[in-house]
Amino acid sequence: MKATIATVKNHLEETVTIGAWLHNKRSSGKIAFLQLRDGTGFIQGVVVKSAVSEEVFEMAKSLTQETSLYVTGKVVEDNRSPLGYELQVSDLEVIHEAEDYPITPKEHGTEFLMDHRHLWLRSKRQHAIMKVRNEIIRSTYEFFNQEGFVKVDPPILTGASAEGTTELFHTKYFDEDAYLSQSGQLYMEAAAMALGRVFSFGPTFRAEKSKTRRHLIEFWMIEPEMAFIDHEESLKIQENYVSHVVQSVLENCKIELQTLERDTSKLENIKAPFPRITYDDAIQFLKDKGFDDIDWGDDFGAPHETAIAEAYDKPVFITHFPIEIKAFYMKPDPNNSKVALCADLIAPEGYGEIIGGSERIDDLELMKQRYDEHQLNGPAYEWYLQLRKYGSVPHSGFGLGLERTVAWITGTEHIRETIPFPRLLNRLYP
Ligand code: 4AD
Ligand code: MG
Repeated sequence: MKATIATVKNHLEETVTIGAWLHNKRSSGKIAFLQLRDGTGFIQGVVVKSAVSEEVFEMAKSLTQETSLYVTGKVVEDNRSPLGYELQVSDLEVIHEAEDYPITPKEHGTEFLMDHRHLWLRSKRQHAIMKVRNEIIRSTYEFFNQEGFVKVDPPILTGASAEGTTELFHTKYFDEDAYLSQSGQLYMEAAAMALGRVFSFGPTFRAEKSKTRRHLIEFWMIEPEMAFIDHEESLKIQENYVSHVVQSVLENCKIELQTLERDTSKLENIKAPFPRITYDDAIQFLKDKGFDDIDWGDDFGAPHETAIAEAYDKPVFITHFPIEIKAFYMKPDPNNSKVALCADLIAPEGYGEIIGGSERIDDLELMKQRYDEHQLNGPAYEWYLQLRKYGSVPHSGFGLGLERTVAWITGTEHIRETIPFPRLLNRLYP
């Protein structure tokens, strides 16, 4: 009977056939241990010389790394493996023999691994990261569907910038100029006026010349936008969302978190509500900590964010940033027009900002004034103003960066391992 590694638990003491690749191997005179993978997981196949034909045993001993094969064997319990099962192999059939697989069990440098990303993805660690990434996506859809949001897909080719003009990828759109989307937000605002509560999930592009462990050129963002929801209400939705995602990963990715050696005690605690600190208090906090390189009006750098995050054991919202250092669409605080009704959510353990969000300006005249200040004009922006002209309502939204969230939850130092094929400064291959 055909089975997968994920389903062997349904076949205890039965003989099954699994299509697999040889991940690794150990053998001695009388026994061979095959580390097998099939995409759904990893399992050990034990080949005992006295239990198989001479031909099968010789084949087991000579198998090369990443050879594809059909493995037939009996499923038995094995409490030492994370999976809890192993295969007592009775037969092997090679599908395709792999020669000189470049990624061997020895240590390789990062550049070498990045050049072989198409193969590196097969490794146990990369496999685990991709499975967690998938669980974050799955539980995102689950959360927003439960909360009555409608999934809306904003365009990727756009006529104008959404988050500032310095980081735009330009392309020709026949005779017009076009840009790859930096954020779907402006379109999501239009969608919220049509559907109430909406969320998007798609690729976004930033032509940023930053080479840090937190920046990708192409990354995926989840962007909810909500009509009749103010800044405070939006923060509650954000903390519930992030808690749901973390708890779902803890529940459904136990083997993967174990493979990644993630300290799960740090994740178990991630439950709403999350602490909040105003920008003003954050500046004071940093000054008290001895940072003399930051003043009111400056944006935070990675060391500042890390210092603030270290004061808490949950993600922390930094709220009410100065208007000048935030995007043109953010609504000023009615109690203090120098600051915006906005927040960044900073992940614990030094993983940095995972969410940026705000209440949006809903007043047409103020939005026009911002257009002038930011020198935004042209037909590409006209439709956005019209949202404030026809039944404008208070509304808020936010964007969660998927890869930074994967990095935090998996405990992955560098963002390049959190997306299948990272686009980085100086890297477009493979
Ligand atoms: O703070 P950002 O730029 O916000 C926006 O784009 C808003 N329009 C979102 C919204 O309100 N709908 O980006 C949001 C998040 C950041 O918090 C970060 O997690 C991630 O996107 N992000 C990046 N991730 C990887 N590489 C980059 N270069 C990133 N830039 C932003
Ligand atoms: Mg931001």
